Amino acid sequence: MRHIVFISLFIAISLHSEDFISRFEYGQMLYENPRGVSCVPCHGDRGEGKIIASYITDDGKQKILKGADIRFATLEDMLKAVHNGPGVMPKYFLTNDEIEAIYEYIQKVNQPADENSTDMDW
Ligand code: HEC
Repeated sequence: MRHIVFISLFIAISLHSEDFISRFEYGQMLYENPRGVSCVPCHGDRGEGKIIASYITDDGKQKILKGADIRFATLEDMLKAVHNGPGVMPKYFLTNDEIEAIYEYIQKVNQPADENSTDMDW
């Protein structure tokens, strides 16, 4: 009996590992772990933008350094920014297809819940 449980578990695991990751997971993986610095500390989990640092200058002014809100950036904006690295953003050596996968991920993850027919877990 025990063997049957182990065998079925083994089969279940090996079947699962043969699955190709979805385009969504691919985009998420690249957004969180591109070749280079992760996009998340600067643009937030869903591209909403994030404060990278805030500091007071010598003359007492408060300065805030913030990663842009990229939820509404077009694919063109995305390609340009990732290839060129505007401002403090680093330049990445990702292919256009990889950048497009990130773009699609940001679009998808920000869709209103009722339009979401897939089985994403949030
Ligand atoms: C060190 C922080 C940092 C990291 C890491 C970073 N960015 Fe940025 N990004 C910025 C800042 C700051 C801007 C705004 C630059 C400006 O306009 O001066 C920006 C701009 C952008 C824009 C342009 C927004 C627009 O409206 O045109 C896109 C798209 C973008 N980033 C995507 C990404 C992606 C995708 C990654 C990861 C592959 C990434 N960024 C990594 C800081 C960062």
